[in-house]
Amino acid sequence: MGNRKTMPAAFIKIKGHQCHLKKAILGMVFSLCSKYKIRKGNGRAESHFCSAITVYIMCGIIGYTGNSCASPKITKGLSVLEYRGYDSVGIAAANENEISIIKCKGRITSLEEKLSDSLLQESHTAIGHTRWATHGGPSDTNAHPHRVGDVVLVHNGIIENYMEIKKELTESGVKFSSETDTEVAAAWINRCYCNLKDPIPAIREACSRFTGSYAFAIMFENLKGEIYAIRRGSPLILAEGKDGYYLASDITALLPFTPKYHILDENSIACLKSNEIKIFSDSKDACIPEWKITSITPEAAQKGGFSHFMLKEIHEQPEAILKSVSPRIINGLPDFSGDGIHGDFWKKIKNIQIVACGSATHAGLAGGYFLEKLAKIPTSSYIASEYRYTPPIATDGTLVILISQSGETADTLAALRYAKAHNIPTLAIVNAVETTIAREADYKIYTYAGPEIAVATTKGYCTQVSVLYMIAVAIAHQKGDISDQTAKELVENISQGAPKAISHILSQRNILTEIAKKLYRHEHVFYIGRGIDFHICAEASLKLKEISYIHSEAYAAGELKHGTISLIENDTPVIAIVTENRLYEKTESNLREVKSRGADVILICRDDISSDNHSTDSVLTIPSTSDVASVFAAIAAVQIIAFDAALLRNCDIDRPRNLAKSVTVE
Ligand code: AGP
Repeated sequence: MGNRKTMPAAFIKIKGHQCHLKKAILGMVFSLCSKYKIRKGNGRAESHFCSAITVYIMCGIIGYTGNSCASPKITKGLSVLEYRGYDSVGIAAANENEISIIKCKGRITSLEEKLSDSLLQESHTAIGHTRWATHGGPSDTNAHPHRVGDVVLVHNGIIENYMEIKKELTESGVKFSSETDTEVAAAWINRCYCNLKDPIPAIREACSRFTGSYAFAIMFENLKGEIYAIRRGSPLILAEGKDGYYLASDITALLPFTPKYHILDENSIACLKSNEIKIFSDSKDACIPEWKITSITPEAAQKGGFSHFMLKEIHEQPEAILKSVSPRIINGLPDFSGDGIHGDFWKKIKNIQIVACGSATHAGLAGGYFLEKLAKIPTSSYIASEYRYTPPIATDGTLVILISQSGETADTLAALRYAKAHNIPTLAIVNAVETTIAREADYKIYTYAGPEIAVATTKGYCTQVSVLYMIAVAIAHQKGDISDQTAKELVENISQGAPKAISHILSQRNILTEIAKKLYRHEHVFYIGRGIDFHICAEASLKLKEISYIHSEAYAAGELKHGTISLIENDTPVIAIVTENRLYEKTESNLREVKSRGADVILICRDDISSDNHSTDSVLTIPSTSDVASVFAAIAAVQIIAFDAALLRNCDIDRPRNLAKSVTVE
């Protein structure tokens, strides 16, 4: 057996509850997610498993027209947008005579090489695109921008009925060179433009035919210096700079140029010219945007001296939690009136359905634990893509909480709309302000984590858990289940204790790296835990999978022996997260089970648990300051373990294969 090493003093404490979970493992072209729904709270532990292939799709678009050279702005903006997709890239720039296009498979650097000796450098009007392949693999031909006739455009989203349109156009003689839905969209817009001769009605007419989602930036051959934009279901931001007008999928791409932004409403058409911008909505005449000033700084979108965005964002967590909970603390007590949610709102809540995707699901599971434990509110967690198949069991007093870092995840948005269609009150916990989910929910609570660039979420997830904890304390306090004093203590634990505990564990980086060294050569790793530890294991496992490509499973510790233990071989790493003395005894027997089958057992536990030498090979302890603070210390520990394992495997941590930051299609 491996030498048991006791890691220096540090421990965590997490209370938890049992939940049954089945997982399906699927390997398919894109990324896989085994999804589960756990219905708790009514005492009946019912679960079923389903699997969904999440097509991680997203692209980044950007445009500029004004008095300066466009291409340096486009390439700089695209380098920020690369997290949205990075298998091909392109730019279209207009000069006096024509619109020229340079595009290629590969990263932004490939484009910059081609641009270096091109006349495109002189242009003052351009659009750019960084792609994540959907229809048609990564190739020069499939890269955006696409040109058909007088129309040149870039697109983020998916035109679901493109094949029927393509068939119609092909029969009328249109020839296509790519496999993309985007080229079909360009051809259809061109057809409408040739008929109507006016870009605004042509774009509106064309887009009325499309089903699916889109954000388009469009240029027309005979309208030099002008860029048109329209969106439905995909994000699009407009901006006003000193030297012209911009558009982009994400505000972070525009931070180097201007803080003045406006979110384009769905189905409105923007027309950008070098010295003016107008918005044409289908309901009223042209108007100019109402500009807002973002509080996000350009530095926030940079790495700030860290090797990776993910590492920076892990280290930002203490501050992010403080920023997210402090505005909800009045006289030491939880208070969401600043979010338009007053005390009596919580009193009406009789049960909660939490709906999200990926890590946000795991935050919801952890939050659901607090809601049941502290507020005694029956809480069920649902995977967003499955929620619409669940007949909404909405009784009086039901609240649906949707969680999303980006605020644009299509599955979560669809779940939101499903709940609203059934008149169930909705509350969105979102990080990116004024995004679709935030705007469409009845109520919203922002997590002030700041822009999250790394594809794998860390501070987004952490702040979601912190806000859910605050909601649990607020409900418990409003119901009179806890005194002012207790509520103040719990608030102190999340606002002060949690950030401190994270900072402490981050100072133990060398210890965590040692654990990562035990994992990185393996192809299979298991995380096991009970209660909330199990929910942390789910997030720990996803982090490890998505950035290091090591296959990992999170299991309720008591469930392993019901089948999956057959996968344990000699030296298989099993990481157990155990936090409470009362849970250790049961979990320790699970550790003995895997140990006896040859596993390399790594135990992460609080330092007042005297672990048994015979069932573990390594122990990492984390000093507990309070239950919830220790939860966050444990989360930070497993984030760093995943990060270092990926580093040791030379993975592209900020841009993992098969993934993109947000899923803006279903
Ligand atoms: C997290 O590391 C993943 N990138 C992914 O699971 C993500 O949490 C999920 O797609 C939900 O995104 P959202 O929070 O922006 O809705």
